[in-house]
Amino acid sequence: MIFVAEVVEVRVPASTANLGPGFDAVGMAIELFNVVRMGTTSTTRLEITVLGDSRDLPVDWTNLVARSAATFFEEVGLPVPGLRIHVQQRIPVSRGLGSSAAAIVAGLVGANALAGFPLNHDDLFRLAAEIEGHPDNVGAALFGGLVVSVADERGRLRYLKMGVPADLHLAIVIPDFHVPTEVARRVLPKSVTLADAVYNIGRTALLVASIASGRLDLLGDAMADKLHQPYRSALVPGMDDVLASAMRAGALGAALSGSGPSVVAFAKQDPQRVAKAMAATFAANGVKCRAVVTRVCQRGAAVGMGCDSGAPSKGLPGEDSPFRARTALRRMRPSRRRALYRGEVYS
Ligand code: HSE
Repeated sequence: MIFVAEVVEVRVPASTANLGPGFDAVGMAIELFNVVRMGTTSTTRLEITVLGDSRDLPVDWTNLVARSAATFFEEVGLPVPGLRIHVQQRIPVSRGLGSSAAAIVAGLVGANALAGFPLNHDDLFRLAAEIEGHPDNVGAALFGGLVVSVADERGRLRYLKMGVPADLHLAIVIPDFHVPTEVARRVLPKSVTLADAVYNIGRTALLVASIASGRLDLLGDAMADKLHQPYRSALVPGMDDVLASAMRAGALGAALSGSGPSVVAFAKQDPQRVAKAMAATFAANGVKCRAVVTRVCQRGAAVGMGCDSGAPSKGLPGEDSPFRARTALRRMRPSRRRALYRGEVYS
């Protein structure tokens, strides 16, 4: 088959899911990125290199980037080609910051770009949610901003991407231990009381309404949860204290990030103070952690296309150096160019 590019580079954001009450339904993209460079090879072999937080990441077809790319080729009825994949892994793994979602989205978006964009965003979102098992993180990684999503009776995803006020800062504390999502889901009960369901329904609605209307003062009440955090607190020593310390330090709201163990807080002013307070509280509970202050990423996964020089990419626009996509894009038919992800292509 003919690929439209020899190599593509995908920049995909981290994400925080649930935001407290919106379990499996709400996800938000974060300004912290993995960069995945993917090219085809003339053999059917797979070569993966990972830089950064590479602990425990497999470098065979069980790697989520590779597996998702293979799923893409199977989905569109193409033979799975040999792939050369290079991952700059900046998103910490198994910390509740959407590293698996980022890997899945990078694999799908990268393979889709190599093959000339046969699938649209809806198709990619459906595939990504199937691989991940829930749509919240993959939705945020793919679309950016705040994404609310549900599956209908036939499993079709209904979703909405919302912008988020630009002055909202995130303070995130990332413990130095892993909690795999499957472990954090195993501790959840199979059924909950009507009272707890009502508690979360109201707060999820308030959460979305407060962000949509800019009434960020309501986030503190809106981000409380009774469906997953109380059960997961046993896996994250000091979680409740850390949430309380964020609010005392002036956060607008705070929650376990996804399935944890990271904790995320929102602040308009002085997010450093919030981050410091949370880190000190984790430390007081015997948990080593690092603190990050960042913002919501308003754009989702972005792809650049070019020719493989064999040299690893040095960086991304706005970072170190541009990926050589311009030439490839200029040579491309205008119809093909227009098909490129409606402004989601960087060059
Ligand atoms: N909604 C998922 C969960 C997110 O809480 O299990 C996993 O990051």
